[in-house]
Amino acid sequence: MIKKELSKIISQKEIAADVYELIMEADLVSEINAPGQFVHIRVSNGFDPLLRRPISICSFDKKAKQFTMIYRKDGRGTSLMSDMEPGMYLDVLGPLGNGFPVDEVNAGETALLVGGGIGVPPLYELSNQLIEKGVNVIHILGFQTKSAVFYEKEFTENGMTFITTDDGSYGRKGFVTDVIKELSFDCLYTCGPTPMLRAIEKGNPDKKLFLSLEERMGCGIGACYACVCHSSDASGSSYKKVCSDGPVFRAGEVII
Ligand SMILES: Cc1cc2nc3c(=O)[nH]c(=O)nc-3n(C[C@H](O)[C@H](O)[C@H](O)COP(=O)(O)OP(=O)(O)OC[C@H]3O[C@@H](n4cnc5c(N)ncnc54)[C@H](O)[C@@H]3O)c2cc1C
Ligand code: FES
Repeated sequence: MIKKELSKIISQKEIAADVYELIMEADLVSEINAPGQFVHIRVSNGFDPLLRRPISICSFDKKAKQFTMIYRKDGRGTSLMSDMEPGMYLDVLGPLGNGFPVDEVNAGETALLVGGGIGVPPLYELSNQLIEKGVNVIHILGFQTKSAVFYEKEFTENGMTFITTDDGSYGRKGFVTDVIKELSFDCLYTCGPTPMLRAIEKGNPDKKLFLSLEERMGCGIGACYACVCHSSDASGSSYKKVCSDGPVFRAGEVII
């Protein structure tokens, strides 16, 4: 069930250049059913900004009723969020969307998790859940530059982790797709900028592949049609809503 509540900020810290880790306490944690779901946040009590901001759930702890988000300070909404302090409250709607299907890989198989920039956070909970199942997990995390890198230690504790930077200032120089070519795996899960998702989908036509998409959102619950993308299913509906049908889709399900 989707809940709307005032959630308490437990902690907030900058973990990379303009990238913040925010830990919240919220009853809605009990309703999270898959990694890759997101929450929709109202960052101000007034009318500016009016629309909520969608942010992925990076990890959660049902016992402690806490969840973690990682976001990049970008426009007005996320800048306001970055000024908030522990003890303050945020109006949060969630959990929303359909997340990554963990049951598509079995114990002993290998899952490749590929994240780009601010698409990395939802892969962390996915990695934790796959590890718990006994799946071998390999991560490839791509960033623009060294100062943007975060959670390397956390991912490395779960499994082999490759870091790439566009400018070569840290890890391997180049794109995540260069590393994918060198590895063998049973299932690939990815989240990141659309050009990266497109390249991964095109380069791995025969693989079991799940992609998490980003679209500008209004309601976040499937009512306003702000977030539609084209479906590739000619016999069915011609579009899908990223907020309620996604954000995670099987490769080929939507046209990206
Ligand atoms: C399902 C989903 C999960 C996301 N998870 C994360 C995350 O974990 N960490 C993170 O840093 N960012 C994430 N984003 C992107 C994040 O929502 C935007 O960066 C944020 O809304 C920008 O808000 P702003 O007020 O700072 O910027 P502004 O540019 O002022 O925002 C203006 C409007 O555009 C929308 N918007 C702007 N950029 C995006 C975008 N890339 N995607 C969707 N809507 C956008 C905003 O919601 C708002 O309605 C996610 C987006 C989606 C759709
Ligand atoms: S944001 Fe309103 S339908 Fe998706």
